[in-house]
Amino acid sequence: MNKELIIVLDFGGQYNQLIARRVREAGVYCEVHPYTMPLDELKAKNPRGIILTGGPNSVYDMESPHYDKALFSAGIPILGICYGAQLVAWALDGKVETAPVSEYGKTEITIENKDGILRDVDDSTIMWMSHTDYIAKAPAGFAVTASTPVCPVAAMENAEAKIYAVQFHPEVTHSVQGTEVLSAFVYGPCGCKGDWKMDAFVENTIAEIRAKVGNGKALCALSGGVDSSVAAVMMSKAIGKQLTCVFVDHGLLRKNEGDEVEAVFGPEGPYDLNFIRVNAQQRFYDKLAGVTEPEEKRKIIGEEFIRVFEEEAQKIGAVDFLVQGTIYPDIIESGLGDSAVIKSHHNVGGLPDYVDFKEIIEPLRMLFKDEVRRAGLELGIPEYLVFRQPFPGPGLGIRIVGDVTAEKVKLVQDADAIYREEIAAAGLDKEINQYFAALTNMRSVGVMGDFRTYDYAVALRAVTTSDFMTAEAAKLPWEVIEKVTTRIINEVDHVNRVFYDCTGKPPGTIEFE
Ligand code: XMP
Repeated sequence: MNKELIIVLDFGGQYNQLIARRVREAGVYCEVHPYTMPLDELKAKNPRGIILTGGPNSVYDMESPHYDKALFSAGIPILGICYGAQLVAWALDGKVETAPVSEYGKTEITIENKDGILRDVDDSTIMWMSHTDYIAKAPAGFAVTASTPVCPVAAMENAEAKIYAVQFHPEVTHSVQGTEVLSAFVYGPCGCKGDWKMDAFVENTIAEIRAKVGNGKALCALSGGVDSSVAAVMMSKAIGKQLTCVFVDHGLLRKNEGDEVEAVFGPEGPYDLNFIRVNAQQRFYDKLAGVTEPEEKRKIIGEEFIRVFEEEAQKIGAVDFLVQGTIYPDIIESGLGDSAVIKSHHNVGGLPDYVDFKEIIEPLRMLFKDEVRRAGLELGIPEYLVFRQPFPGPGLGIRIVGDVTAEKVKLVQDADAIYREEIAAAGLDKEINQYFAALTNMRSVGVMGDFRTYDYAVALRAVTTSDFMTAEAAKLPWEVIEKVTTRIINEVDHVNRVFYDCTGKPPGTIEFE
């Protein structure tokens, strides 16, 4: 498979996954490993280059994360970014100090030498800075290649040793020519040719799965979301009918969603797999009846999901492999120890404990989300599935404030379908990262025709975000909100008021519960 590997050594900065994504976008496979990875292990992976990331610490503080100095004489090209750059300076006896003036944000830098990895950057360009320490003096053997008025060493290099350092963050989009810097590093000193291609990845993974599964049987929980859909299709291309997909319709899906998933993966669809749809709607409604506390609702939905899945698995009998749609950010985050922020409620927890299987297969474990989408397109999965916005496991259960009933589900489904239709019609569906209608638990007085009404209020939510950890309320055009409001009131029974949610995250969350 791909032979070229760049390793990102993670020192705890917030953009570390982004570095790996950018390198992969440049066509070179890249993995993120914690800074605790021993040098021997790192060398055994035979990387073409190593990137040391940013991080919140000060290198001269001995409690801060450091790395075996032998790394710098291992003959592997190195690029230090921000904290990583200071680490290079510190390890090789340069000088790192608290800067008299911190730099934060878009900063004009002047290039002083374009022989190395700044070769494709303009003489003066904007890069993103975020530092309180700086390199006061480059180590012996290093040439200063860029500076700013307050940062004497914005970039430095020792071309002979193939060690490079930049104080700015080339990985963030605010750095106008940041990608050029990363590309110049991997294609220059690292000598990469760029062999990370999605079509080859898909083909190789299918061959690997086939070899691994042999005549065995595999079981996959299919939600219709991007990850599980791509994992299922990849598995089905590899092992066909040896794969069984179980799709649990918990009655908390969007309008027509169950049928849409069935149309793609069921017997009428293009894939040759065993598809089981479990219509468990009533079971979930019964369990949720009268429950209003959000965490309790989430727990009930999660547990009931496992129970339904387990019952189906038992009907199938022992399987050799359980397929999971784990993706690379999950793997990186769980590997980072203390600093990782993992939203445990985002995983359908506990499946492996309940199902009789020998091994787990995670065909997407090395892919970032955008790569999962590209793999999906390679596999011929319809675009509307591949580019779907995220939908939470507990579904509409956490978009109906308070207790859930079949009637409320229908109401929010109808309102949401109208909202999605109008967002698409306005051409906004690619711009807004997540949008949906929710049902507030509020009823209020209104008037329709000549009659008094006492009905529900629907809330519209639309956010823009890059990572779903923080988000801004989207500034939807008023005409769109107006049209959606009119349609919802006219077309959905028992709704007489529509609100638009202007709250960012924080302080709000994206979902309502
Ligand atoms: P919050 O509401 O925490 O949501 O701001 C952030 C993102 O995560 C999604 N989300 C979930 N996804 N299971 C999931 O698979 C969940 O329980 C869950 N809760 C929230 C949410 O839709 C948003 O994209």
